[in-house]
Amino acid sequence: PALEKDFLPLYYGWFLSKRSSENLRKTGQAFLDELASVKVFKKESNKHFGGAIEDPKMKLDLTSYFVKRPPGVLHCTTKFTDFGKAPGSEDYAQQEAVKSSYGKAFFLTISALFITPRTAGARVELSEQQLLLWPGDVDVIPPAGSLPKGSRAHVTLGCASGIEAVQTGLDLLEFVKLEKSGNKGEEVGEIGGGKLLSYGNGMWMILLSKKIEVRAIFGGYYG
Ligand code: A2P
Repeated sequence: PALEKDFLPLYYGWFLSKRSSENLRKTGQAFLDELASVKVFKKESNKHFGGAIEDPKMKLDLTSYFVKRPPGVLHCTTKFTDFGKAPGSEDYAQQEAVKSSYGKAFFLTISALFITPRTAGARVELSEQQLLLWPGDVDVIPPAGSLPKGSRAHVTLGCASGIEAVQTGLDLLEFVKLEKSGNKGEEVGEIGGGKLLSYGNGMWMILLSKKIEVRAIFGGYYG
């Protein structure tokens, strides 16, 4: 028995293997590079990704626009517990699925990549088994309310200057909210990895024609 109350991590999540992490970063970067040279994107980008580009004929460098990149291996947060201070932390930590999956290996499926003027991320499609580890209180976007379980599942690839990582999940929820309200994105063509969709307001998504499988270990990050 522990002498003290269990110490909860900053967050729980799936931590990609070094190799999967490197591959996903590369794929994300290739997507940004390719997107930056797409005509419709270039036409639109000044409005939403302004500041970063002075000459409209110049290619926008999205890699340096999303300047804040996660250090170390990439991850998909399940529950942000804030060392136990976040609401619902104890309940989450005590769930049987969470305890029995701690330290176990998984394959996560990446189905899409997205960017907004704030964040760049990868959308994660969770399996039934993986959804057991997904908290019940995070797929919420006020005031619109709850979205389907797992809607927020993502890997943050980068944030614009001054933007916190928490924003990536909120941005993904915004895409899902738009989808739900009938805006499935305007198809603006095919790029390397799949179908490119524009949702307006600088929100872009590529649906991967070949989904990416990444290896990841479920666990906690203590900072
Ligand atoms: P994300 O999972 O979207 O990448 P930080 O570095 O800001 O302390 O965050 C550590 C991790 O926890 C990041 O991965 C971040 O976002 C996630 N995170 C930070 N704050 C929250 C929050 N309030 N709710 C959910 N996830 C959060």
